[in-house]
Amino acid sequence: MTDYLATPGGLVPAEQRDREEEITRRVLESFEGCADPRLQEVLQSLVRHLHGFVREVRLTEQEWNAGIEFLTRTGHITDMRRQEFILLSDVLGASMQTVTVNNEVHGDATEATVFGPFFVENSPEIDLGGDLAFGAVGQPCWVEGTVTDTAGKPVSGARIEVWEADEDGFYDTQYGDDRMAARAHLFSDADGRYRFWGLTPTPYPIPHDGPVGGLLEMTGRSPMRASHLHFMVSAPALRTLVTHIFVCGDVFLDSDSVFGVKESLVKDFQEQPPGTPTPDGRDLGERSWSRVRFDIVLAPGS
Ligand code: BEZ
Ligand code: FE
Repeated sequence: MTDYLATPGGLVPAEQRDREEEITRRVLESFEGCADPRLQEVLQSLVRHLHGFVREVRLTEQEWNAGIEFLTRTGHITDMRRQEFILLSDVLGASMQTVTVNNEVHGDATEATVFGPFFVENSPEIDLGGDLAFGAVGQPCWVEGTVTDTAGKPVSGARIEVWEADEDGFYDTQYGDDRMAARAHLFSDADGRYRFWGLTPTPYPIPHDGPVGGLLEMTGRSPMRASHLHFMVSAPALRTLVTHIFVCGDVFLDSDSVFGVKESLVKDFQEQPPGTPTPDGRDLGERSWSRVRFDIVLAPGS
């Protein structure tokens, strides 16, 4: 009589189970001679999980082919301007999990979140209180706060990179011309304080005209990201922080397509009706504006 064994994928005859385990064992063994112990650890773990996945779902050959075809299309659409593999990692939560593993909890250090594809080097420098819009459309937003370490000591001269989409949901790099807008960098003052004019963030979709967009559609998921403003903050001897702040009340907070939202990063962007005096005396005429406070705490560097 055949001996059946319970596996996560259901009942499998013992002889079948042995054959499957034998393949995994041989592949693991093939990496035993790897000279780099870390590479060996990563690859052997990958093999264990990959084989475990194939066996658990009893992957059909048709499904395996569909997966290969999907990855092939992902490669074909990827070039210098578009990285569909990172997008895939983002929507599977692998990017956010890697960020979380690599930014361990440290006191009240500000939480990190995904980098995203829209950062560019050499953003313009603005003075404290300067405006990052450079012609980008959107409601002006006064952003202010402090940079401190986890002991509460102000961090002066921290480099603060900020970037965001305009009110139509596009980053400057998506317009296909040479414009540089809605991005800048500035430095915290002697007391660790910073302030600048940005744009009130609005929601926008991740690029969804490729295979990853197709995956989202097939699975009934939205490509929308919750409205956010990107920050990258660095200072000597402290851990560089890559994060965003999100708009309290945004409808996409619970369904952010890349799982980037953390409760601690959701901030109150306070609407200011037209005519409300601005913090720096700027005359915005008949325009409304918003304001938000974001106090940044940097963990020690490693
Ligand atoms: C973004 O923040 O803009 C973004 C992040 C991950 C994937 C796509 C876009
Ligand atoms: Fe973004």
